[in-house]
Amino acid sequence: MTAAITFDNLSKVYGRGRNAKSALKGISFEVQPGEIFGFLGPNGAGKTTAIHVLLDFLFPTAGRALIFGIDSSDPQARRNVGFLPEVFAFDGFLTGRRFLKLFDRFGDKRRIERAGLIAELLQFLDMSDAADIRIKRYSKGMTQKIGLAQALAGDPKLLVLDEPTSGMDPVAKAKIKQLFLKLKSEGKTIFLSSHILADIEDIADRVAIIHHGELLAVDRISELQAGRASEGCTIVFSGDSPQLINEINTRAETEQDDSRVTVTCRDRASKEFVLQKIMASGGDIIKVTPVGSSLTSHFLKIVSQEKLADD
Ligand SMILES: Nc1ncnc2c1ncn2[C@@H]1O[C@H](COP(=O)(O)OP(=O)(O)O)[C@@H](O)[C@H]1O
Ligand SMILES: [Mg+2]
Repeated sequence: MTAAITFDNLSKVYGRGRNAKSALKGISFEVQPGEIFGFLGPNGAGKTTAIHVLLDFLFPTAGRALIFGIDSSDPQARRNVGFLPEVFAFDGFLTGRRFLKLFDRFGDKRRIERAGLIAELLQFLDMSDAADIRIKRYSKGMTQKIGLAQALAGDPKLLVLDEPTSGMDPVAKAKIKQLFLKLKSEGKTIFLSSHILADIEDIADRVAIIHHGELLAVDRISELQAGRASEGCTIVFSGDSPQLINEINTRAETEQDDSRVTVTCRDRASKEFVLQKIMASGGDIIKVTPVGSSLTSHFLKIVSQEKLADD
């Protein structure tokens, strides 16, 4: 299957001579069709640069980027792409609805069908009322929603979104996540960048982590989550055998509440020990929850390990 996005040993150096700044240092990875793919990294990591090369706003210094197998320098590559830039300015005199109508002309759909889709999208984004107000009156979150709707106009197969949820309140963020999952179910591919892991961890299938222009990891979110489970957990079980609790206390901390016991295990070894003891004594395990290391701290760990290697 042709990848939706291919970054092939992509490098970008801004400026030259003493002012040269190496923003991308040979990154390679692929995004498969139908994936929600998170492009993660702290500010200044090189995310926007990579996206701008992908969309042919910038020349690569070396390597290449492809969209559905077509080199980014070929305008055909962008035929099936909707884009939300990180920083964008609209003509504030237009209302949200007029603005979307303008953009929607680029798609292949018939006018009547398009008007229906726009109305549906505005309603989904809770923007039906705001749609007839001028964009210059919009809050940051509302502007971002209209920007997203603009990326969807024309019904593209691939969405490239640079920090799409920045500036949005939690309610809007949740709504947008729902929209992404809906789009995925329709077979779209979504490539979104973020410096906030929590904003993408529950919707992305995979993530690429980039830092100082280098690709540090490409991981399936489920694998990252499995990794964090091994670092520690709480176990809740029912059963109040004092002998069992004494045994558990040698390797973990317990807290008792009626017949329920909550055990905090610091590492994998302790988790395995405790689970075995509970099962051997016939206790009933109610819940095992990973704690101690969120995906965010995993991300920070990867980034800081790289930093240490730098020093
Ligand atoms: N036009 C430019 N000229 C020189 N350096 C730039 C330019 N644009 C970005 N950079 C630098 O390249 C690096 C990557 O920036 P960027 O791609 O915007 O990162 P991100 O989107 O991950 O925050 C940063 O160090 C930034 O300062
Ligand atoms: Mg950026």
